[in-house]
Amino acid sequence: MRNIPLAEWLQQTSDPHAKGAPPLNRWLSEAIRQTIVSGRLKAGLRLPPTRKLALELGMARITVLQAYERLASEGYLVSKVGAGTFVSDTKPDPTLLIDAQHGTVRRTPSSQFTPSRGAQRVLSRLGVSPKQLGAFTPGIPDIDNFPYAIWQKILAKAGRERNAGLSGYGTSHGLPALRHALVDYLSLSRGVRCTAEQIVITHGAHQALDLCIRALCDAGDTAWMEDPVYWGARNLLAINAVQTLSLPLDSQGMQLPVQTLGAPPKLIFVTPSHQYPSGVVMSLARRRLWIELAARHNAYIIEDDYDSEFRYREAPLPSLQGLDHHQRTLYIGSFSKTLYPGLRLGFVVAPPSMTPTLAALHSELYRGGQLVLQTALAEFIAEGHFSAHVRRMRRVYAERQAVLSEALRRHLGDKVSIPDDPAGLHLAVGLHGVRDQAVSDAALALELVARPLSAYYDKPAQAPQGLVLGFGGIQIEEIEGAVQLLARAVEKAQSSTMNVND
Ligand SMILES: Cc1ncc(COP(=O)(O)O)c(C=O)c1O
Repeated sequence: MRNIPLAEWLQQTSDPHAKGAPPLNRWLSEAIRQTIVSGRLKAGLRLPPTRKLALELGMARITVLQAYERLASEGYLVSKVGAGTFVSDTKPDPTLLIDAQHGTVRRTPSSQFTPSRGAQRVLSRLGVSPKQLGAFTPGIPDIDNFPYAIWQKILAKAGRERNAGLSGYGTSHGLPALRHALVDYLSLSRGVRCTAEQIVITHGAHQALDLCIRALCDAGDTAWMEDPVYWGARNLLAINAVQTLSLPLDSQGMQLPVQTLGAPPKLIFVTPSHQYPSGVVMSLARRRLWIELAARHNAYIIEDDYDSEFRYREAPLPSLQGLDHHQRTLYIGSFSKTLYPGLRLGFVVAPPSMTPTLAALHSELYRGGQLVLQTALAEFIAEGHFSAHVRRMRRVYAERQAVLSEALRRHLGDKVSIPDDPAGLHLAVGLHGVRDQAVSDAALALELVARPLSAYYDKPAQAPQGLVLGFGGIQIEEIEGAVQLLARAVEKAQSSTMNVND
């Protein structure tokens, strides 16, 4: 058998003495493994005796022995008594590839990955912002003002608890203490009527929405939703193969269909407190109409109350759930805007008859967990820190919204129309005389996120033009500079459109 220059090949993989390299026996087993996987060290080849390889590599023989033993235990090498150590043959047995029905060898599948049709639908309309920080990323709160010191103290205390239950998956509903804290908070501040048994804690509102869709709809069923709509709702419905009917808005919120078109809906998705992204608040009369219509169609309403805590003038209207005497509303909430999005905690309040199903599905589909976080959050709410933080941030955001509106007026004048939005962490600004996608591209080149409003519509090519500008993640003193940059992006988009039209 010919001699293989193994020491040389191994040294070509990486330098065992480089700074940060692993201990020699680990380096050696990794280098041999790589040489086998790359195909250079072929099946059946005999490895040099340990003494020889140790000498060539300038290592102790025990190091080589340990590496050979480890690779033998992982199945890369076999040692034969009296004959030496050989590279194992791990090629699949070709008889396993024979098609049982036709007796032919199956074609090797191409390595080209084809996403599922549902995945392709999502990939064709991506919604996540290209940057998750700073001006004007929508959907993010101010993390600089978060009371970290208090939170860390409460979190550390929860983490110190020697409670085996907290390190497991937990019950399928989520931590009882957190659900009880939520019942009081939701009833006082949102008019939500529920017991702790009706709540399922989720990893954010997005997951809560996925859970509700899966519990309510089969592939091919129909959902009605707002137009424009939260991109997450569109994508979750798409991947679950649910057909959608997009219903336009007027000043009172999502309009009822003039006539029933196609199949009746299984679910109706709305953001009544503060329509996302337009900012329209659904009137009380419209809420009542939707509740009756849902009952008539035997459908359920999903009320996504993602940012209702931040209302800057009069008190918010009570939740649609609290008005629904038919008990056909699933209320979804999130801590992403009130605390921070990386926390990944949200919840769904479901009608009593549905909660056991939702809880069981949550466990089966996503598993639970995060119980230390849930314990800390329950205490953070119960001790009043949550309400205090929300009250404080309401003032901060109201001021920021006013400063942003004023700066937009000054720097962009009649190129934009600025809504008189009473709530939220973003403004959906109308754009005149320029395509919003072009502005968004020009803004991104200046490190600014300015999401095109048309992208939230069912038919972006025919949609109104505008920008969705988040102000949660930008400090007040940075707004002026960011708006100046945005004005430059608008000018750039305008001049490039003119050049194309010239
Ligand atoms: C309207 C709307 N619903 C739901 C979500 C998702 O929230 P979460 O971070 O809790 O998943 C967002 C996030 O921005 C949102 O804007």
